[in-house]
Amino acid sequence: MDHIFACHDIIKTDFVHAEDCYQVDAAGRRYVDFESGIWCTALGHRHPRVQRAMQAQMDQVVHLGTRYPNARVEEAARAVLDVTGVTDGKCVFLSSGSEAVEFGAQMARRFSGRNRLLTFQSSYLSALGSTGAKRPDEWVLLDWADCTDDDGWACLDSIPFETLGGFVFEPGGSGSGFVQFPPKALVEALARRVQAAGGLLVVNEITTGMGRTGKWFGFQHYDVQPDIVCLGKGLGNGYPVSAVALRQTVAETIERSGFRYAQSHQNDPLGCAVAVEVIAVMREEGWVEQGTATGAYFLEGLRRLAEKHAVIKAARGRGMLLGLAFHPHERVSAQWAYTALLQRGYLTGYYPAGNLLRFDPALTMPRAEVDGLLACLDELLAEAAA
Ligand SMILES: Cc1ncc(COP(=O)(O)O)c(C=O)c1O
Repeated sequence: MDHIFACHDIIKTDFVHAEDCYQVDAAGRRYVDFESGIWCTALGHRHPRVQRAMQAQMDQVVHLGTRYPNARVEEAARAVLDVTGVTDGKCVFLSSGSEAVEFGAQMARRFSGRNRLLTFQSSYLSALGSTGAKRPDEWVLLDWADCTDDDGWACLDSIPFETLGGFVFEPGGSGSGFVQFPPKALVEALARRVQAAGGLLVVNEITTGMGRTGKWFGFQHYDVQPDIVCLGKGLGNGYPVSAVALRQTVAETIERSGFRYAQSHQNDPLGCAVAVEVIAVMREEGWVEQGTATGAYFLEGLRRLAEKHAVIKAARGRGMLLGLAFHPHERVSAQWAYTALLQRGYLTGYYPAGNLLRFDPALTMPRAEVDGLLACLDELLAEAAA
């Protein structure tokens, strides 16, 4: 791995095969994947129906010029609009989650004619552009930990709603890092005030979409009506396709304004064929419901570990987006647990800033594997305490 640019931690593994919730390395060792790659393979790696749809599309057409979307792209747009509830809207397909969120934010600016947007300070939005940089001249960054309803949400008083183009809301527990969810009433009040003042509600469903949080979409835990919904990760189940769904008036107003945007892989039929099949499989096989039940079972198990082991501060989560926060300790930490689990054949995630061990398994993760991971972690923590 000497020639792979280390823009992120690189762990020296060599996975050569992946199937459902498992990855196998070149030496034939099998690992149970509790991270779904990087939160992408919601239906498990290489779901057979998605594989077949991809192969069939590859035999027809993979890529078309941005001027020539075909019937497959229209089919994917209808499927995304239907499942997100943006039923009479319009949709564009891009490649990554970052592109989708940046596009959604730019559409809010374009529609409202206002440059400044609101988001929670800890929300991760994108690796690119304005949503990646979150510069203070373009963003109002609200720390929801400072907000309480004891004082009637006084934190809202300082927000210049009438100057905002929109609220970019990431419902995944603040940047999908901390697995801590902002109060329902606060999110609803912010959405209401922004929209009443002429801004748009843009939801970043890159991580939280496609069943991750126990509902199809993270915003469905709140009583809000998004204007723009950005999807990625689970939509492609490991294939790089993302989507932005826009409410009809938003889409049509922007189209009429002469707006132009082109990227090489915009509306590629291959990505669209994947999205169509992923949505169909999730619906027909009931994976959102099954993942929700497995997530509740998993969270119960994590809570039992938190009660038993003093080093664990809290177990928390929604659906299949779960975390175990550790107290500061001289040896035991989330990173320590991550490494120990990796050695025992489990792929998990950790977030150093929150001292948090993370689990974002496929919705297809069998309960027996959840039991296996919980037992392994229990044993590791007991050994560490001895
Ligand atoms: C909440 C959230 N938004 C956006 C993104 C960006 O998606 P991508 O990495 O596909 O560009 C991520 C990536 O992890 C994310 O977690």
